[in-house]
Amino acid sequence: MDQSLKHKKSTRSILELLKKERGIDFSGYRQASLEKRINGRIKDLGFGNDNDYVDYLHYNPLETDLLLDSIIVNVSCFFRDPVVFDHMASEILPGLGLRGSDAGSGHISIWSCGCATGEEAYSMAILLKDLPQRGLPPLAGTIFATDIDPEALRTAEHGCYLSNRLKYVQLGHLERYFSSSGDMYCIKPEIRQMVSFSIHDVLSSERRIPTDCVFRHFDIILCRNLLIYMSPETQISMLKNFEKSLSVGGYLVLGETESLHGLFQVKFEQVLGSYRIYRKIY
Ligand SMILES: C[S@@+](CC[C@H](N)C(=O)[O-])C[C@H]1O[C@@H](n2cnc3c(N)ncnc32)[C@H](O)[C@@H]1O
Repeated sequence: MDQSLKHKKSTRSILELLKKERGIDFSGYRQASLEKRINGRIKDLGFGNDNDYVDYLHYNPLETDLLLDSIIVNVSCFFRDPVVFDHMASEILPGLGLRGSDAGSGHISIWSCGCATGEEAYSMAILLKDLPQRGLPPLAGTIFATDIDPEALRTAEHGCYLSNRLKYVQLGHLERYFSSSGDMYCIKPEIRQMVSFSIHDVLSSERRIPTDCVFRHFDIILCRNLLIYMSPETQISMLKNFEKSLSVGGYLVLGETESLHGLFQVKFEQVLGSYRIYRKIY
């Protein structure tokens, strides 16, 4: 049964409006948590009747933005889950350097899918840039970072953050790759230019991978803390897309509470205990 049919009439009207006005189709998301977030917004604004909120939404485009902000969570930080990024720096990137998308070219391609305000993509750029500081051979990389939220992407492109987003940034990285400006820390141009941001709906059936991407396969795909918002069926179709978009020997990195759902048991090995880092072995 189509899960959206279980929604109240008012929720269905709201989701239809979001699809029409903003082109976002929420049918693949977890319906119960969508309903909860929408109800939370209605309650916060003090509407006693859901239909009054639907009318209000129709006549207040700004409210559409605020509602989307409460549905789409784009909280992130640099090196979120430091053990994963340590392993990336010490094992995965040096290992890929010996191989690369284009074997032996010393160049790899990375996709940060659901990149929010850019911290994850820039963390990867910093690790790549920093390899020689660790006594390792340099490795060039192109990082494609995509998200559905244009506002988050604008922040990402700007590349300036408050200190609370930098709590896991090592002092050496801070000194080498950020400049401070008032109470903000801004990514230096040499890191900024390694990342290409673009809008992309990961549920779009037309565009399996970002359109401006010249690679057919990636060496690393990070999709962290996005699957959790999706229904189980959508998660499976996203994972199948990632499997197709990854080179053999490449890595899929998921968020702490996400998993492969027992899919691809033979195709992937989990490389670091219970951390959600999977290597495609054939
Ligand atoms: C919680 S953030 C995760 C940020 C980062 N990956 C991390 O782990 O810190 C989830 C992001 O997924 C994005 N998102 C939600 N639905 C999406 C979709 N259909 N396609 C692409 N991005 C989506 C949101 O806009 C949000 O920026």
